[in-house]
Amino acid sequence: MPMRKPVIAGNWKMYKLLGEAVDTALALKPLVANANHCEVVIAPVFTALKTVADRLEGSNIGVAAQNCSTETAEGAHTGEVMATMLRDVGAKYVIVGHSERRQIYSETDAMVAAKCQAALAANLSVILCVGETLEQRDQGTAEAVVGRQLSGGLTGLTASDLDRIIVAYEPVWAIGTGRTATPEQAQEMHAFIRRVFAERYSNPSADAMRILYGGSVKPDNIAGLMSQADIDGALVGGASLQAESFAKIVNYKNGE
Ligand code: PGA
Repeated sequence: MPMRKPVIAGNWKMYKLLGEAVDTALALKPLVANANHCEVVIAPVFTALKTVADRLEGSNIGVAAQNCSTETAEGAHTGEVMATMLRDVGAKYVIVGHSERRQIYSETDAMVAAKCQAALAANLSVILCVGETLEQRDQGTAEAVVGRQLSGGLTGLTASDLDRIIVAYEPVWAIGTGRTATPEQAQEMHAFIRRVFAERYSNPSADAMRILYGGSVKPDNIAGLMSQADIDGALVGGASLQAESFAKIVNYKNGE
């Protein structure tokens, strides 16, 4: 079995003023300082990115942006932020294709692909989100939907790009609902996602790919999820907003 270092990422969504973001980040720092078993990532809003990244410098917590522009050159794009600009202020990762962006802001797979390419060109790692709605799951099309989102989002990416891609499987019906996928349901989709990489790229690429689960991950369900063979971490929304609960998720190994 390949060694895949787990990633536990906190998606703060549109929460926290600057002072609150800094306070949470600083509270988190000592709580996860010994978490060498995984990469720890937090994703504050754009306006807090630089300050949080500066205050976390030298720590084991990486900072992610929650979105980036499809554009790769400066220009007349009011309201957009380029991947290079995110890198410039200390982001190491960017979340791309979150279901809230797909649903509320009509992001297409083509836009997701362009954002992935822009992020990689700026030397950011990508957390590429995929996931089906409840309706799609009930209709039995969950794998088809996730497969389509993957092949759409990965358009133009070669095997050499994959070491900076992390996939997050987030069933839309589990996000913010308190209704987590069971570890078995998640494992089934993660195994499918890994097969997609094996078919599209190679077995070694698929074996090395980190696939995170997201959707109502909490301190009391993380260990069960992490016990599954193909679950390599978590993208955590609500439970990442408090340093203590996010730290419990990061430190899932200690059963704290
Ligand atoms: P949740 O959000 O943990 O609050 O369900 C997860 C996400 O949207 O990334």
